[in-house]
Amino acid sequence: MLRTYLLPFLVVAYLGIQCASANNKHDSDKTSIFHEFARFARREDTFRKSPLELFLRTDPQGEWFKKVLKDLKAENHWNSTMSGEMSLFSSALVEGTWYNISNNGTCNCCDVNNPMDPFNVHLSMTGRPGEVVVSWNTAQKPSPTEACVFVSNTSGSQLGSFCSSDIRTFSLGSGFSPYLCSNYSGYATHVKISSLKPGETYMYTIRGTSKNKTFQFMAPYGNTSSTTKLAFFTDIGTKGGQPVIDALKQRMSEFDYVILPGDQSYSDGYHTTFDAYMTLFEDVIASKPYMVSTGNHEGPWNFTYVRNNFYWPVNESGAAPDALWYSIDEGPVHFVFMNYENYFSYPLGEWEMTQPAPLSTFPGQLEWLENDLQKFAKRRESNPNLWLIMMAHRPLTCNISGKSCDVFGPELEKEVFPLMYQYKADMYWCGHVHAYERVNPINNVTRTQCSNCVQQNGSLYLKPPYPVQVMNGIAGRAVADNNYFTPGISYPDYAQVRIDAINYPFGGYALVQVNDAVLNFTLYNTSGTVLDSFRIEK
Ligand SMILES: *[C@@H]1O[C@H](CO)[C@@H](O)[C@H](O)[C@H]1NC(C)=O
Ligand SMILES: *[C@@H]1O[C@H](CO)[C@@H](O)[C@H](O)[C@H]1NC(C)=O
Ligand SMILES: *[C@@H]1O[C@H](CO)[C@@H](O)[C@H](O)[C@H]1NC(C)=O
Ligand SMILES: *[C@@H]1O[C@H](CO)[C@@H](O)[C@H](O)[C@H]1NC(C)=O
Ligand SMILES: *[C@@H]1O[C@H](CO)[C@@H](O)[C@H](O)[C@H]1NC(C)=O
Ligand SMILES: *[C@@H]1O[C@H](CO)[C@@H](O)[C@H](O)[C@H]1NC(C)=O
Ligand SMILES: *[C@@H]1O[C@H](CO)[C@@H](O)[C@H](O)[C@H]1NC(C)=O
Ligand SMILES: *[C@@H]1O[C@H](CO)[C@@H](O)[C@H](O)[C@H]1NC(C)=O
Ligand SMILES: *[C@@H]1O[C@H](CO)[C@@H](O)[C@H](O)[C@H]1NC(C)=O
Ligand SMILES: *[C@@H]1O[C@H](CO)[C@@H](O)[C@H](O)[C@H]1NC(C)=O
Ligand SMILES: *[C@@H]1O[C@H](CO)[C@@H](O)[C@H](O)[C@H]1NC(C)=O
Ligand SMILES: *[C@@H]1O[C@H](CO)[C@@H](O)[C@H](O)[C@H]1NC(C)=O
Repeated sequence: MLRTYLLPFLVVAYLGIQCASANNKHDSDKTSIFHEFARFARREDTFRKSPLELFLRTDPQGEWFKKVLKDLKAENHWNSTMSGEMSLFSSALVEGTWYNISNNGTCNCCDVNNPMDPFNVHLSMTGRPGEVVVSWNTAQKPSPTEACVFVSNTSGSQLGSFCSSDIRTFSLGSGFSPYLCSNYSGYATHVKISSLKPGETYMYTIRGTSKNKTFQFMAPYGNTSSTTKLAFFTDIGTKGGQPVIDALKQRMSEFDYVILPGDQSYSDGYHTTFDAYMTLFEDVIASKPYMVSTGNHEGPWNFTYVRNNFYWPVNESGAAPDALWYSIDEGPVHFVFMNYENYFSYPLGEWEMTQPAPLSTFPGQLEWLENDLQKFAKRRESNPNLWLIMMAHRPLTCNISGKSCDVFGPELEKEVFPLMYQYKADMYWCGHVHAYERVNPINNVTRTQCSNCVQQNGSLYLKPPYPVQVMNGIAGRAVADNNYFTPGISYPDYAQVRIDAINYPFGGYALVQVNDAVLNFTLYNTSGTVLDSFRIEK
């Protein structure tokens, strides 16, 4: 439900017109405490020792780990067979602990003493012109008059308030897990702001108990613009992701929104780590819509935290209310977010990361996808300059030795390729493997590279007949990830660019600009160096 109090002129004005586990073959020279800890925690014999032995350190990080584990040990009988769970737990600790997470086993988001103070503020797009959704968390459930945002223009003139009854909460499992976050309490409110003028800048304010928060944003264009610019990356940690987040803060004028098909924060159900990540990112994503989808690290507890904290335009794109897939239009691009993460199967427990499964595993997804692509194809008939970018967390064609590329990619593509090729997708975006790989357009049956479409040393695709695939999984984790590509072996000619994982404090993100004729894609590392750059010309 949405109640709007927009001034009439504004309405008239407009209506008139989401992992590969690290496979460390070599230890990094730059050892630091979190690298060491992560390596240590992953060693097989680690789990046969008393957990306290792992933390015989004198530095503050070690002290903190020690305290957490001591508390846990006091409360629970340590079960040394739970190594998978321990591994996720340690990953969340490594990513989150630098932000001084204080936690005593219960988990309240936000500030219980100032129960209506807004936290984790972020925006989403619905794909509709002039419409945006504001989302935030509070410790207490907002009343109907508190679940509101106040919108003004940039001179501070009030335009009206928007309120919502879309207020969600959740519980996080029971029993042993999750160590850091049982008995969750907190609320996520989602308020839709409609009928703004696409491309105009506005301000919004959320009123809290001890503080109000105000951010500036641009009303999305939806399909009413022939250009668009965005940031794209996947696999971003909390501590590990901070360098990318800091780099984006310096380039706010260069993108209008952020696209992340899976794996953010590495909280794995440890909600305080997710909160730490969102706090770090808030200055960016409260101003720029943040469109996420599912990765294996969102999988624990059946995607609870993403389902509740993010507004996905499932209804707007014709999907079921609990669908983990949706599409949006922005500028000349139709973006399709798909899901392979198997939320039906948690054999060891709901704390687990998800495993991949074909699209058709999830009731309604394939039908939705065909329908969505058909509708898009009709629009493209009358406007051939539109672009189609399909994405999901995991790679299809890729050349890292390991299950993601050797086993799962070929399985997953059996359903995706026929549709991607039939509907002439321009690109496929993914991540999951913590490396970057750019795959030239290949024929889906013969797997031969398009003839003559790869030009200028691979920096230009001229009228490519097939999609360009980009795996961009290097946004950064605090744990070391490296040496994915095997030196000295030959890769197929279509594997145009390969970049190994970039270890903390560096990571990579792409800035993408599109108009009706050209798509520019540039990959940067956090020091601003261009790592890859190419364009597609229609
Ligand atoms: C330890 O965990 C395993 C796997 O979850 C379970 O099968 C086993 O019963 C547990 N052992 C104890 C002593 O709780
Ligand atoms: C972390 O918490 C401790 C104890 O509450 C405090 O002394 C310290 O200043 C905090 N550190 C940071 C970086 O906030
Ligand atoms: C845990 O800490 C919160 C505040 O952070 C407090 O409200 C709660 O009572 C504490 N719970 C326990 C069991 O100590
Ligand atoms: C969580 O809630 C359950 C039941 O509601 C209660 O038994 C348990 O003590 C609570 N745990 C914590 C850490 O507050
Ligand atoms: C904001 O609205 C006021 C009142 O309608 C108007 O005078 C002012 O020019 C507007 N400012 C901007 C930046 O549009
Ligand atoms: C928040 O804004 C409202 C409206 O301007 C104001 O009345 C209130 O005092 C503000 N609250 C705080 C904590 O500043
Ligand atoms: C935008 O999408 C709407 C709804 O699909 C359609 O009616 C309209 O013609 C489209 N506008 C443009 C400029 O493509
Ligand atoms: C879903 O979309 C339809 C049509 O676009 C609309 O009538 C309906 O109110 C929407 N439902 C929700 C829950 O937003
Ligand atoms: C996870 O959620 C989906 C969608 O609501 C549901 O169909 C599925 O059964 C759930 N999985 C488990 C293991 O409960
Ligand atoms: C690269 O991928 C192709 C096609 O799947 C495969 O035949 C080849 O063995 C792979 N090469 C490496 C080095 O992984
Ligand atoms: C290959 O692409 C064509 C469209 O170009 C499509 O009809 C066909 O189903 C695809 N086959 C496979 C095996 O992907
Ligand atoms: C793409 O990059 C080229 C070279 O920097 C630039 O001239 C062109 O305007 C860019 N196109 C778009 C759509 O941003």
